[in-house]
Parts: sequence; C-alpha cells; structure tokens
Amino acid sequence: MTQAPIARFTRLRHATFTSPDPERLLDYYRGVIGLGLVGRDGGRLFLANDSEQLSLVIEPGDAELKSIAFEISPDAQLESLGAALKQADLRPELHSDPLPGVSRLLSFSDPEGTRFELIQGWTPTPAQERIGGFAVAKLGHVALRTPDPKAASEFYASVMGLRVSDWIEDRFVFMRSGFEHHTLNFARAPVRGLHHFAFELRGPDHMHRACDHLARHKLPVLWGPVRHGPGHNTAIYHRNPDGHLVELFCDLDRMTDEALGYFDPRPWHRDRPQRPKVWVGLPRDVWGMPPSPECTEFAR
Ligand SMILES: [Fe+2]
Repeated sequence: MTQAPIARFTRLRHATFTSPDPERLLDYYRGVIGLGLVGRDGGRLFLANDSEQLSLVIEPGDAELKSIAFEISPDAQLESLGAALKQADLRPELHSDPLPGVSRLLSFSDPEGTRFELIQGWTPTPAQERIGGFAVAKLGHVALRTPDPKAASEFYASVMGLRVSDWIEDRFVFMRSGFEHHTLNFARAPVRGLHHFAFELRGPDHMHRACDHLARHKLPVLWGPVRHGPGHNTAIYHRNPDGHLVELFCDLDRMTDEALGYFDPRPWHRDRPQRPKVWVGLPRDVWGMPPSPECTEFAR
C-alpha cells in the first residue's frame, strides 16, 4: 500500500536568496523584474509582486539560494506535520511571525540539505512603493540540480505530494504541485544547488515588453524567445546581478483536472492529448533557436 504524503505542497510562494550585495540585487528587482520593497528587518529585504504577495527574501551572504517556500493546505496541522517530519529525520523547525504576511511557518531540510518552508495562510504584503520594471505576475518555478533526479522525484512525490509532469530522458524532471505543469524541477548535475528560477509573465505582449526592458538595462537574453516542448511555455533567459539564471515565461501547460490525466489542449501540442511523458530526441522545442553557448549548461 502506498503511504500518503506527509504534507502536500500547493502553491509556490517565495524563495530566499543570500547575496554579497543585497542593495544591488534590490535595484535589479525593483527596476527590471518589477517587485517592490515591503520592508527591511536587519539585513533582510522583503519583496512583493503587485498582487501584494511576498515573492523574494534577500539576505546578506554568498550568492546562493537559501530556501523555497510552498503553501500547504489550511487543514494541515503544523504540529503533527512537524512530528512526522522529525520522524523522517528532516529536521523541522516551527517559526512564529517569521515573515511579513506569514504568521506560522514550518521549515525542514530535504535529504540533500535544501531548506524548504511550509506556509499556511497569508495576509497581503503590499510594497511600500510604486511597482516599476515590467512587473512580473509571480514567482513560477524553481529548478534544482541534483546528482539523482530520480531519487529527488520519488522523495517529493511520496513525501510532499508532487506529481511528475514530464521527464527529459532520465536527467530532468518537471513536477507539479497544483494545476501548472511545473513548480519544482530537478536536473542531473554533480552537486545539489540552484539550476534556474522563473517568473511568470502575463502573456506574449508582456514577454515582448520584457525583452525590450532587458535590452534597455543591458541584460542580454541568453536563450529565447523559445517555445519549449515540455510544458510548452514560451521563455527567455538572462542572468541576474548575482549570476543566477532567471527565466521569464508564459503559456505554461495546465492540468486543470488531474482525473483526466492530460494537459489542457493547446494548438501547439504535438501529442493529442498531451500527457506526461519522457521526452527523447531533438528538437524538443516547438520553435526558437537552441541555447547560446553560455546557456548550454542549462539546456533542459
Ligand atoms: Fe524553467
């Protein structure tokens, strides 16, 4: 008998990064990506999107991803969840009033040491300034490197209730926590770390504006625009001032009804219906150029 997951990730909420120059990163998120400063707490900076949701936390340190936060069901009991995570040796910690708009948060470290935060409920966290830049819609997904994507996918399916959407061969897995094709991905690489992270745009016109805006800020588009195969999102990639690869995307596949087992039909699908599968061979992308040499390492 398969055991029920300990918890169930629902929406991706925010990510926490450490940075050697948080103010430079803040300028980039304010002026280019379009997040606004909610407040400061010591060296920590809290940034929200214009839907008044906390999207990023920046702390002083090396240029690293520190943690990823997902919302969990309002019915889950954080105390019993903490006990179950402890039993599974995942080092849970319960925090009260840890972040703006978040009253309770339970964190844990996965078997490879990446910290996740489980959040229950939220209140709006409006930025204390006008949102500038091209005002992304939201943080859309995070892709991690791991030596063993199969083990990572099995852990997140069995422990956190994620579902596998697609594989590229046996080296890149896309996992969904809600109806969107992916919110958490794992790419095979020698050591655990960040592969890339992505913000959702509002549509194709918004992507056009984002390209112009990146050019004005002398941030070269390293790959794209491209329409991917897995997920069928259109995407562009650039690097932020800390050197992390940032994807901007729209049109991501949705599985609005899990019981049907296929993604909502779209004209650019080549399989009808488009079900989760293993993608093998090239070209995987529907259109667009292959990644530039600087980006090849990240080719998904
Ligand atoms: Fe991505």
